[in-house]
Amino acid sequence: MTDRPLVAVTGAEGFIGSHLTEALVADGHRVRAMVQYNSFSSFGWLEDLPPEVMEHVEVVLGDVRDPGSVQGLVTGAETVYHLAALIAIPYSYRAPHSYVETNVTGTLNVLEAVRHLGVPRLVHTSTSETYGTAQTVPITEDHPINTQSPYAASKAGGDRLADSYHASFGLPVVTLRPFNTFGPRQSMRAVIPTVIGQIAAGQQVITLGDLRPTRDFSYVADTVAAFRAVGTAPADAVLGRTFNSGTGEEISVGDLVGLIAKIMDADVEVRPDPARVRPADSEVMRLVCDSSRLRAATGWAPAHTLEEGLRRTVAFFRAPENLARYKTGIYNV
Ligand SMILES: NC(=O)c1ccc[n+]([C@@H]2O[C@H](COP(=O)([O-])OP(=O)(O)OC[C@H]3O[C@@H](n4cnc5c(N)ncnc54)[C@H](O)[C@@H]3O)[C@@H](O)[C@H]2O)c1
Repeated sequence: MTDRPLVAVTGAEGFIGSHLTEALVADGHRVRAMVQYNSFSSFGWLEDLPPEVMEHVEVVLGDVRDPGSVQGLVTGAETVYHLAALIAIPYSYRAPHSYVETNVTGTLNVLEAVRHLGVPRLVHTSTSETYGTAQTVPITEDHPINTQSPYAASKAGGDRLADSYHASFGLPVVTLRPFNTFGPRQSMRAVIPTVIGQIAAGQQVITLGDLRPTRDFSYVADTVAAFRAVGTAPADAVLGRTFNSGTGEEISVGDLVGLIAKIMDADVEVRPDPARVRPADSEVMRLVCDSSRLRAATGWAPAHTLEEGLRRTVAFFRAPENLARYKTGIYNV
């Protein structure tokens, strides 16, 4: 189907990237999908997509740290969705150089490739972690940036480069800043898969870090819809701007565990694991999103409640073939 318009996605084999790739194909695109080179020839979660989707996906093994890889990826694309990143906060304490190389230099490589090859639109991915603990709620895009982890700092670095490329070169970039996202295929680095996975594996004692922080959780289909919204909106409505995506509702980790246990009809005890507790000044205690800018510019709105999304996510993790792909018995940094 070579007459389909070509879009490129980095981080396509990951959690959000694989769902976005599916949605882009469903929308009638051909997707050139960067999968980080690995010697197992693993295409990550793209391996779970059906053949009728994958026939429209061209997998390119590469690395955003390598400028040539990125140039090859974006050549001829009408839109580039840049999602590739190292995302785990605890691992960013251990390996901060790799976060700068991937999230800052990798983003620079994408910006340079888009600039020199004249790609009409780049959607850059930020994160709500760049705001740090909410100083005012709900958090608008004008909230101060306060990076409390090397991960957040590296993502903010990429965001600032994207802004600077728009200001300096008129680069057609729009930044989407999703709040916490969950759903099928998410890694055990995130709290919802950690809880669901442990319960689905039959554990009655759930080990977790701090139960007090609140988050604003979006079901992955809604976050993907936000990517599509900024990727397709009229240029003058979105380019050069940053948009939050989130529901506007917050829940504490402790209450979330209770809700998941209720949905899974499980009686669980939560045991705090000091190894999972972050340094006090690094833990983001509160995040709740104001997405009115995105709603006004694109008409986007979330379509799933937390409970609906959790039910779908539970169904995914309860399938033995899915659960078998996770290590529920260890702390996945
Ligand atoms: N999951 C969330 O709650 C959330 C919230 C806000 C923002 N984000 C952002 O969304 C994006 C996707 O996150 P995700 O949750 O799907 O995580 P993920 O880890 O599943 O996906 C990230 C992908 O990037 C790839 N990658 C890492 N280093 C690379 C490199 N050097 N070259 C090429 N690819 C590389 C990984 O292989 C992985 O597939 C990230 O930019 C993340 O910062 C995620």
